[in-house]
Amino acid sequence: MAEAFDCAVFDAVDVIVAKRGKQELSAAQIDWVIDAYTRGVVADEQMSSLAMAILLNGMNRREISAWTTAMIASGERMDFSSLSRPTSDKHSTGGVGDKITLPLAPLAAACGVAVPQLSGRGLGHTGGTLDKLESIPGWSPVLSSDQMMHQLEEVGAVICAAGEGLAPADRKLYALRDVTGTVEAIPLIASSIMSKKIAEGTRALVLDVKVGSGAFMKDVDSARELARTMVDLGKDAGVKTVALLTNMQTPLGLTAGNALEVRESVEVLAGGGPPDVVELTLVLAREMLVAAGRGDIDPADALKDGRAMDVWRAMITAQGGDPRAPLPVARETHQILAPGPGVLTQLDALKVGIAAWRLGAGRARKEHKVQAGAGIEMHAKPGAVLRAGDPLMTLHTDTPERFGRAIESLAGSYFIAPEGSRPDLLPLVIERIN
Ligand code: URA
Repeated sequence: MAEAFDCAVFDAVDVIVAKRGKQELSAAQIDWVIDAYTRGVVADEQMSSLAMAILLNGMNRREISAWTTAMIASGERMDFSSLSRPTSDKHSTGGVGDKITLPLAPLAAACGVAVPQLSGRGLGHTGGTLDKLESIPGWSPVLSSDQMMHQLEEVGAVICAAGEGLAPADRKLYALRDVTGTVEAIPLIASSIMSKKIAEGTRALVLDVKVGSGAFMKDVDSARELARTMVDLGKDAGVKTVALLTNMQTPLGLTAGNALEVRESVEVLAGGGPPDVVELTLVLAREMLVAAGRGDIDPADALKDGRAMDVWRAMITAQGGDPRAPLPVARETHQILAPGPGVLTQLDALKVGIAAWRLGAGRARKEHKVQAGAGIEMHAKPGAVLRAGDPLMTLHTDTPERFGRAIESLAGSYFIAPEGSRPDLLPLVIERIN
């Protein structure tokens, strides 16, 4: 019965009513409510009411900073200060075909920084980095702190699952927000992401804030506000932080799906790959190096001369994977052809992401399994000139009964305009915020 006798200095209802009345919450109120929620003293229905009040009435910089600090304090903090290399990490707010972590982590490591990337699994239409890497035969996302430290020193890059002890308040709150319509609150997204990244112990952080249909943030203004909030939180915590707003109107690269994206990432590490994936990997690598004080190094050299590929192979091998093993391939495919000639001016990220998810590349519930080979291969991107009957996309799945629903979600996903038309797209990198 311990939880019934919490020596509360506050009452959950008072905190909810204060935020409902647009008042500023004190640091003491925030510390209490996060701690009490993590311990089960504040009930889910009370926290969900507070989250909705925050979504509707917002929080100021001081409140968001206190909220983030309290979530970090709910668990353990990692410390990489004994490593011989400076740490630098990247976080993306998530998008369709966003496989950039896969080539980026080994590339940055090949340039002399340590990349301690704690990642998650996908839920909904955006894929998760761990799901992608798990399509490599033998690869495991589970590492102890000692193994992580050893791999960072020896190889330079780790991509693994965050342990249960890292910001447990966020783990509980994020699951609650997911089912109470409160994910979209900028103060809650910013504090959720930054509590985990600060607890992870990196000294430098580059944020890739996606903008467009396939992203959390559908427009540049809200993406800018999220980026500004996260950069401020990072700086307040002593982490050198910079954010780029990048285009997620259309999928990144030519693949969306786990093994398909690993294959494309390896192509990038081998010196090929789609131009947008190569460009964004290099832009983010440069930012990671500058933030870590290694701005004099050009990551393009390490991509060209194979050093990044060497680190990739070492990173996969260190976690039990076989980097040379064939990747899983889906049992069935279905091609979508261009219905007429012209210029592809639109390929919608959200619709492609939902179709890939319906083919089995993503999960609807945490406990669902993903299909390693499922997803979508795109044969044309906006700007491409097409003839009638040219292949537009190939859908991949092990379960052909999924084709119907995937094809339904692709209705209106692309637009072919008369020859001479130009797509009206945001640039790949829209803005830099520091
Ligand atoms: N990713 C997170 O980790 N938290 C959020 O709130 C949203 C995206």
